[in-house]
Amino acid sequence: MIRRHLGWSFGLVGITLGLCSCAENKVGPDRVATAKGECKMKVEKESYGKTPDGRAVDIYTLTNATGAKARITNYGAIVVELWVPDRDGKLGDVVLGYDKLADYIKDTPYFGAIVGRYGNRIAHGKFTLDGKQYALATNWKIHHLHGGKRGFDKVVWQAEPVQTGKAIGLKLHYLSKDGEEGYPGNLNITVTYWLTNCNSLKIEYEATADKPTPCNPTHHGYWNLAGAGTRDILDHELTINADKFTPTNDTLIPTGELKSVEGTPFDFRKSMKIGARINENDQQLKFGGGYDHNWVLNRTQSGDLELAARVCEPTTGRAMEVWTTEPGLQFYAGNFLDGSNVGKGGKPYKHRYGFCVEAQHYPDSPNQPQFPSTILRPGQVYRQTTVYKFSAR
Ligand code: GLA
Repeated sequence: MIRRHLGWSFGLVGITLGLCSCAENKVGPDRVATAKGECKMKVEKESYGKTPDGRAVDIYTLTNATGAKARITNYGAIVVELWVPDRDGKLGDVVLGYDKLADYIKDTPYFGAIVGRYGNRIAHGKFTLDGKQYALATNWKIHHLHGGKRGFDKVVWQAEPVQTGKAIGLKLHYLSKDGEEGYPGNLNITVTYWLTNCNSLKIEYEATADKPTPCNPTHHGYWNLAGAGTRDILDHELTINADKFTPTNDTLIPTGELKSVEGTPFDFRKSMKIGARINENDQQLKFGGGYDHNWVLNRTQSGDLELAARVCEPTTGRAMEVWTTEPGLQFYAGNFLDGSNVGKGGKPYKHRYGFCVEAQHYPDSPNQPQFPSTILRPGQVYRQTTVYKFSAR
């Protein structure tokens, strides 16, 4: 099934990057090693087709030492498939997506992509920086969302396979030109996906700019730990390490308040089914059509990777932890999915068939000086690391 694209006429270029040792990390998100079986880390490259303007696009299959697999295309830096074991060791594809490049080009709610320059919303697409007002593309109601009309999810990235003793990866680079979607300055961004031998998908970001600019990229994976397209995510049990969230107005722009989750349906400090309170009569839930909000992560000041969230799926036993260097986590419960996106294997993605946990800065930060800054200045280096760590029990 994973190899179904081999039937295409494009042919396969196999790049086996050598044998590995099943290395085990002792600390942080990779502390529990699940590596077993044959060591067979490899990356294979295939053509994934062409964009309408004739640009060639590839898809890379990364296999780690345990047999877990990620398929990633350099169109939009999209994770198309991610196969991780359940409690019986059976691999399942836990990300929503499409079979074909053409489907991503036609219509996607950012399935599996890197979004940016600014993940999430900037009110009215406007902000002032160093006294100058900028107008960005508006593509969601009256606001700017996920980088605009042609954000990082809709461009072709340069890709290069990479490997360490512990992980197999794909390094993606994109130059976002001065003025693109209204943003100031040329932004050079590199995103590296690592599939570690401990079954983590680790994402490292690095960016520099030649003019001051907002920079807040994130990964927009839609997860369903029971398997993409099987059912809704309401029985998934979620914990978010946050005492506060940022309430919004009715168009999902933060009001500026950091509100305690205590006594609200936004309290996920103890594990709770996503569906337990999602339909409660709550004004914030009404605005989002369910959860579509930023949580203010409880963090130390270290700037290190810290645990942001944990999700468990009871029927398969699959669990996912999210570790990040970022201050916020947008938890979106797939409220806008309505079955009109027909995904891999012809399965329609119905209401709440996937959820997103997007590590990022708070929405609309360029207009909210009390929020941590998202401005990248020349001479500085933007860095983010976020890890989605899988296990099963
Ligand atoms: C983000 C937003 C949502 C929605 C999805 C894509 O998670 O917060 O409101 O736009 O992306 O549909």
